[in-house]
Amino acid sequence: MTSEDAAEKILVLDFGGQYDQLIARRVRDQHVYAEIKDYRRITAKEIKNSGYAGIIFTGGPASVYAPGSPSFDPTIFDLGIPILGICYGVQLMAYLSGATVASAEEGEYGSTEVTVTPNALFAGVPETSRCFMSHKDRIVSLPVGFEVIAHTDSCPIAALANDEKKLYGVQFHPEVEHTEYGGKILNNFLYGICGCTSRWQMDDFISESVAKYSEELRGRKVLLALSGGVDSSVTAALLSRAVGSGLNMVFVDHGMMRKDEGDYVESVFKDHYGAHFIRVNAADRFLGKLKGVTDPEKKRKIIGEEFIRVFEEEALKLGRIDVLAQGTIYPDVVESGKGGADTIKSHHNVGGLPENIAFGSIVEPLRDLFKDEVRKVGSMLGLPDELVRRQPFPGPGLAVRVSGEITEDKLKILKEADAIFRQEVDKAGVDYPDQYFAVLTDTKSVGVKGDSRAYGATVALRAVSTDDFMTAEWTRLPYEVLAAASRRIADEIPEVTRVVYDITSKPPATVEWE
Ligand code: XMP
Repeated sequence: MTSEDAAEKILVLDFGGQYDQLIARRVRDQHVYAEIKDYRRITAKEIKNSGYAGIIFTGGPASVYAPGSPSFDPTIFDLGIPILGICYGVQLMAYLSGATVASAEEGEYGSTEVTVTPNALFAGVPETSRCFMSHKDRIVSLPVGFEVIAHTDSCPIAALANDEKKLYGVQFHPEVEHTEYGGKILNNFLYGICGCTSRWQMDDFISESVAKYSEELRGRKVLLALSGGVDSSVTAALLSRAVGSGLNMVFVDHGMMRKDEGDYVESVFKDHYGAHFIRVNAADRFLGKLKGVTDPEKKRKIIGEEFIRVFEEEALKLGRIDVLAQGTIYPDVVESGKGGADTIKSHHNVGGLPENIAFGSIVEPLRDLFKDEVRKVGSMLGLPDELVRRQPFPGPGLAVRVSGEITEDKLKILKEADAIFRQEVDKAGVDYPDQYFAVLTDTKSVGVKGDSRAYGATVALRAVSTDDFMTAEWTRLPYEVLAAASRRIADEIPEVTRVVYDITSKPPATVEWE
């Protein structure tokens, strides 16, 4: 079954939240097809005629009572289609139904204990569990016809229901992995309340993509920006099924790769793709452009633009190429600020694209997927486990792990520190964090090296555990691993006098420092 002829579809009505695609993806996880629509691009009448089995109102950064904030035609509540409101979505549902929503004295952020009362939405959910909260406003009064079905210590209305009209809402985020029973709650909504029965599968994504791109790119030459990471490698495998030898891969070594990374990527891909793999050594060029630049967003934009320029030049050399393929995945899109969502940072392959790009078109086949979905697609396409399981490495590379200006000397220190940390984690064979690396901070500190005073650099170590990189917990690495890494880094790198461990989760931090 394809997405087109799915018997049941869920509409995710997008009010600009950071987790909107994550909601769609969690629905797909439950084997029900979900599509996202901007709240400004669809009417209640169109929704009625589209035959949706259910609707999910997403979160969003605005306050429902602020002038001009995202809203919707309240007749949507009379269509007889079950609705689940999440965060801003439940506030909007309550507000449009006559309740008061106001700023709370204190917001609720992160993992919170929630107590639920029996309701179809919470079937099989224990009376108390952990949920993920991220809100400043709260519902103060209950709209007519609704009852409260959950509360937390500081949020008396953490969920509400109008069983008769099949309207439900939760202040917390069931789509986020830190909500213990989030999957169960969505499952209850989809199957118990909306009555879905579909069995939509991930394989559908591969066959649909191959069919789409073999048609769309027929007879055209495609240039793929290959970083050697999971996303661009899976893009390569997917597109090579669609366009075969029309695919050319360009790997740009910008000098800010991990230690020995450039050679590793070359050894893996050269074998497989031969002449269709091109390595461009461009370290001097990138470092020249970054000279004197300290602002993280500027660094990202410069690197993004320079990447494109290099690709354009390579394309010219190859001749007749007019399509650029990129391994962009959904968190890159959302964190670069789409729709009403706030910009967190410009991932180089989205926000950093220059306006006057010289390719006829850009294809990003993985644009709607999350990292773990991309890995699944990679395995289904037959990529080796080692490659599919690689920890992610950002496009701008070590540039976003060096605070302040990037210099060759700083990069050298960071490459060494990072290699040591990764070796120690790998050696320990611990339950691997999903990403682990070193950062060179711009804080200097006093130390003792040999018998003398030293005033040197501070290296921060970062390890996070996550499924989707939208949220992440800092990994509780064993002290022995941290101790071994710290000792070796300070001993083996003369410029380093201090090593610290980053114990911030996302949010409020991001995974990368810049
Ligand atoms: P943040 O720092 O945004 O990172 O919490 C989430 C995940 O995205 C990776 N990341 C990037 N990947 N281009 C990329 O391809 C980028 O500009 C970029 N910035 C961050 C980061 O390593 C983490 O896995």
